Amino acid sequence: MFEKMFANLGKMPEPISIEEYISRQNELYSTFQSSDVLILCSSLETIHSNDVHHPYRTQSNLLYLTGWAEPESIMFATKASGTWKTHLFVQPKDTLKEIWEGRRPGLEGAEKNWPIDQAHSIDDVESTLIEMLSKANRVFHRMGVMPSIDELVVSSIKKRDRARQRLGTGPISVEDPSNKIAEMRLIKSDAEIAQMKFASDVSSLAHIAAMRHGGNNATENQLQSIIEGFFRYAGTSGWSYPSIVGSGENATILHYKENNSPCENGDIVLIDAGAEFRGYAADITRSWPTNGIFTEPQRELYQIVLDSQIAAINECVPGNPYTAPHEAARKVLAEGLIKIGIITQTLEEALDSKSGQLKDWYMHNTSHWIGLDVHDVGVYLPNGEPRVLQPGMCLTIEPGLYFGAWRPDVDCPQRYSNIGIRIEDDVLIGENGPVVLTERCPKTITEIESIVGNAI
Ligand code: GLY
Ligand code: MN
Ligand code: MN
Repeated sequence: MFEKMFANLGKMPEPISIEEYISRQNELYSTFQSSDVLILCSSLETIHSNDVHHPYRTQSNLLYLTGWAEPESIMFATKASGTWKTHLFVQPKDTLKEIWEGRRPGLEGAEKNWPIDQAHSIDDVESTLIEMLSKANRVFHRMGVMPSIDELVVSSIKKRDRARQRLGTGPISVEDPSNKIAEMRLIKSDAEIAQMKFASDVSSLAHIAAMRHGGNNATENQLQSIIEGFFRYAGTSGWSYPSIVGSGENATILHYKENNSPCENGDIVLIDAGAEFRGYAADITRSWPTNGIFTEPQRELYQIVLDSQIAAINECVPGNPYTAPHEAARKVLAEGLIKIGIITQTLEEALDSKSGQLKDWYMHNTSHWIGLDVHDVGVYLPNGEPRVLQPGMCLTIEPGLYFGAWRPDVDCPQRYSNIGIRIEDDVLIGENGPVVLTERCPKTITEIESIVGNAI
């Protein structure tokens, strides 16, 4: 069922080059002193149920610096003879384990095909790290990822041996390197943008596939299966966050999870779903009538949300504070709701964060950074001031309106009862203005009405 969509997708981009990983490593190491060491651990595997693991996903910082995605791995870096070297502990080759669990690159594979100077067996981690730490001064290590390594680091700092007594050697502090790496990750390179564009294209076509399947007494779970089926069909690893597929009143629940109801004729279905490709996320929301025709009240709200989203996207220009899109979206939403009589306050009153009526119907932020994490890293208010947008930053623009008639905290107007609408795109801050990475996903009322239920 996906052949035609797939034929339209375009080629996968080249993977990120070894040279780019090495230049990221060197950029990070240039912020360290000679006696510092860096340790980055992979995520632990987690259990779904007896003998069954959750699909494995490593730490994004490790992916960012090495591209290495295997479990039970630890990267470390030290400066020796004037040069920084990148080391990686990996699972060694083991035929019996590989028969059961899958092939491993092993030490040789890691050194040959990844940006690694020296690979070590994970079985030697304790002795090697203890020796390495004994010569370190500051240890850049994020606590809480791999508890066994936290213990090693802490005990090496606590240790009071003869070398420390006589020579003053041994580590004295632990610092989290996450902020340094986050600053780098905030600005995407051309190669990263190519990965994100592919994830965005796959996700856009997946949303179109679901729209085409609509109008057919579809259920939320069926729409989910089409979207996620295309994610895998197109060669991505699957979703970058669990898909939200909510129709009717379920569309008014921001993080709806069940995805199990039938879509009633005439209801809006809200689908928030994005693929992950080589670790990079897409994050798209579309909301559309399951029978392919917006009712008048749905049309009114949809157009307000779309106008606010476009106003917010237009603020995605270098030099603007990251809050500018949110402010633009809120203003257009409030103006729209005043016009249709839902908000009875003045514009200024409506926008007040405490007493304004807008927050009854729009209660979340408009944007988050996006990249290797769907809610990507990067401080929003460095030194308490809103981050200034720069070329290479990527963020979502996702305003919405949610009229849950089930809510006891508001008096939901009957005309808009149980309509939930969010429109979400992923936007790159380009030198000359916004670049919508998810532009292949249709969002005007005319486009949506011509696609929903129109199978190809
Ligand atoms: N899909 C999660 C979000 O939109 O932030
Ligand atoms: Mn989002
Ligand atoms: Mn989303």
